[in-house]
Amino acid sequence: MSRSTMSVVSVFVLVACGAPKEQHAATKPDASAAAASAPTSTTPASGPGADAYQICSTCHQASGEGLPNAFPPLAGSEVVNGPVEPHIAIVLKGLTGPVTVKGQTFNGAMAPWESLSDEQIAAAINYERASWGNSGKSVTAQDVAAVRAAVTSRATAWTADDLKKAKLR
Ligand code: HEC
Repeated sequence: MSRSTMSVVSVFVLVACGAPKEQHAATKPDASAAAASAPTSTTPASGPGADAYQICSTCHQASGEGLPNAFPPLAGSEVVNGPVEPHIAIVLKGLTGPVTVKGQTFNGAMAPWESLSDEQIAAAINYERASWGNSGKSVTAQDVAAVRAAVTSRATAWTADDLKKAKLR
């Protein structure tokens, strides 16, 4: 690069970065901003739960509806609206083989997510339990830790049958 090109480049960079940004009059928080950040009982679009659910939404979809013949819906699922232990156990160890969700049979495999922290798992689960019309009891990181300890020796994903018989806490 020639000297003259260099100086043209650096002048350009200086001008581009050095221009002071106009500070516009500070906007007062208005009602719509407050409403947007207020927690809602439906599906919060942001927060730790929404962040944690991103992992799951690849398959179960942002809508919680899953995909026919591939990924079961979490909206209206018995697991998501039922006792917390099976829900936690599925996320920790995964699930494989036939499972019926809302009258549809799935026969796929979900990988284990036990590498996530107790807090992350609780956040994803609570997001699912409070979204899309679901009304499952919420879980704590302590609940996740307790189930994790109870199922620690299991090396493979659950089948629906194994899950029913297992001691999860
Ligand atoms: C790569 C795709 C994929 C990802 C990512 C995924 N799952 Fe799944 N999930 C599945 C499949 C497939 C099944 C059904 C497995 C079967 O057929 O045995 C399932 C089943 C479930 C079930 C059981 C539903 C029921 O009613 O029986 C729950 C609960 C669940 N997943 C929660 C989660 C959560 C929480 C996450 C994120 C931490 C997640 N899944 C991430 C594919 C996925």
